[in-house]
Amino acid sequence: MPLDQPILFQRVPTPPWGDFNDRKYVGYDDYVKADGYAALEKCLGMEPADVVEEVKAAELRGRGGAGFPAGMKWSFLPPLDDGQRFLAINADESEPATFKDQVLIQYDPHLVIEGIAICMLACQLDTAYFYIRGEYHHHREVFEKAIAEAYENKVFGEGSRMGKVNGRVPHLYLHRGAGAYICGEETGLIESLEGKRGWPRIKPPFPAVQGAFARPTIINNVETLAFVPPIITHGADWFKTLGKGRAEGAPPTVPASFGTKLFGVSGPVKRPGVYEEHLGVKLTALIDDYCLGPADGVSIKAYFHGGISMGVVSQDEAEQGVEMDFDIGKKWNNLGLGTACVTVIPEHVSMVAMARNCARFYSHESCGQCTHCREGSKWLYKLLTRMERGDGTTKDLDLLLELASSMGSMPGNNICGLSDGANWAIRTIVNKFWDEFEAVVNKPTGVSLAVLGA
Ligand SMILES: Cc1cc2nc3c(=O)[nH]c(=O)nc-3n(C[C@H](O)[C@H](O)[C@H](O)COP(=O)(O)O)c2cc1C
Repeated sequence: MPLDQPILFQRVPTPPWGDFNDRKYVGYDDYVKADGYAALEKCLGMEPADVVEEVKAAELRGRGGAGFPAGMKWSFLPPLDDGQRFLAINADESEPATFKDQVLIQYDPHLVIEGIAICMLACQLDTAYFYIRGEYHHHREVFEKAIAEAYENKVFGEGSRMGKVNGRVPHLYLHRGAGAYICGEETGLIESLEGKRGWPRIKPPFPAVQGAFARPTIINNVETLAFVPPIITHGADWFKTLGKGRAEGAPPTVPASFGTKLFGVSGPVKRPGVYEEHLGVKLTALIDDYCLGPADGVSIKAYFHGGISMGVVSQDEAEQGVEMDFDIGKKWNNLGLGTACVTVIPEHVSMVAMARNCARFYSHESCGQCTHCREGSKWLYKLLTRMERGDGTTKDLDLLLELASSMGSMPGNNICGLSDGANWAIRTIVNKFWDEFEAVVNKPTGVSLAVLGA
């Protein structure tokens, strides 16, 4: 059933819930007029542990890519001691073709700020850092304006309506990234926040125990935190009426797909954009109903359904009924839902070229700490370049798959998930579009890489 009332996009007056023509910046006063900050007020009368319990009961899963249950993460924090505790908001949004968080930042920053304040109160985190992608110049200005409004209205700072949090005056600071994909990985982000090179850390210890400045730190995505105010206002049971829910027969301990989600769609469709729908919406419905179908003259071959790191689904699979929920990986042999930002790949695009381009991205963005990732991503790029040029052999194709699978997160292989993303992206492209790879290794295309600018 299509979503009749959006949760995050409720300030957009008309459907579809994502049409940018109708959007404007919602400042503090307008936000309050629409019951904004009422959830924070409600939390002021609650025990912090009860707020955490509500978010846990809602089974809100992280919207940054990994889908980890937010309430559970919050409950990993150690008991209070005398020291500081931090919240880092992940607004790095660096996964290719992902642009959903920026819509919240640009138009509804107070929804995010209210979620931040509630998280700080619930988890007793005195200081929050909003880590924003370096390229988001305009969004940074908008968000700084919203932070200033929040300070003026005593959400943060001296005289905050939250009083003291963890025995300190609560503060929210904005910190700009400098354009590295790896700084979206939570511990790379922490290192960068501390002023160091964005090298992910070995876990454990997990950030909730030892994060920024070696103190307990919660890291959540922008969209995840934006869901917190509506959950507090309407309750966990209400949230669980939305979305796909739990897979049939799955025990309650298995994380499910409750709530709505922001889906970004880019590529050759008539109306690209960011749309809010139930988790579990059919991929074809997103394309046909929200995006009004492919652009004129385009037929679709495949999709990156969650950024590039989750791999691809083919148009055939989409027509068989791919649903955009957290179980997409299990059903359609890819890594998972990821950022749920879809890139449409038209029929005329070579999947070999597409794979090579992805490999180039990963080899450039690998931080270089782990051998499998540093060397593997470079070799993937080299092999794919050779194949696309027409110099590849069938042996290269076998080698490519062997290499990609060796890059996965076997214990001790990798510090972070970048290498996993690289190998899944390439493996699903090769496995699902085998014919195209076979054709280039058997029949040289003769396409010169100089022409392609590589
Ligand atoms: C290479 C890499 C890049 C990532 N980039 C982002 C990002 O840009 N934004 C984000 O929210 N999470 C990103 N993540 C996931 C974060 O590590 C982390 O899981 C997330 O911020 C947790 O928030 P959530 O639980 O609210 O989703 C990335 C992970 C990896 C491995």
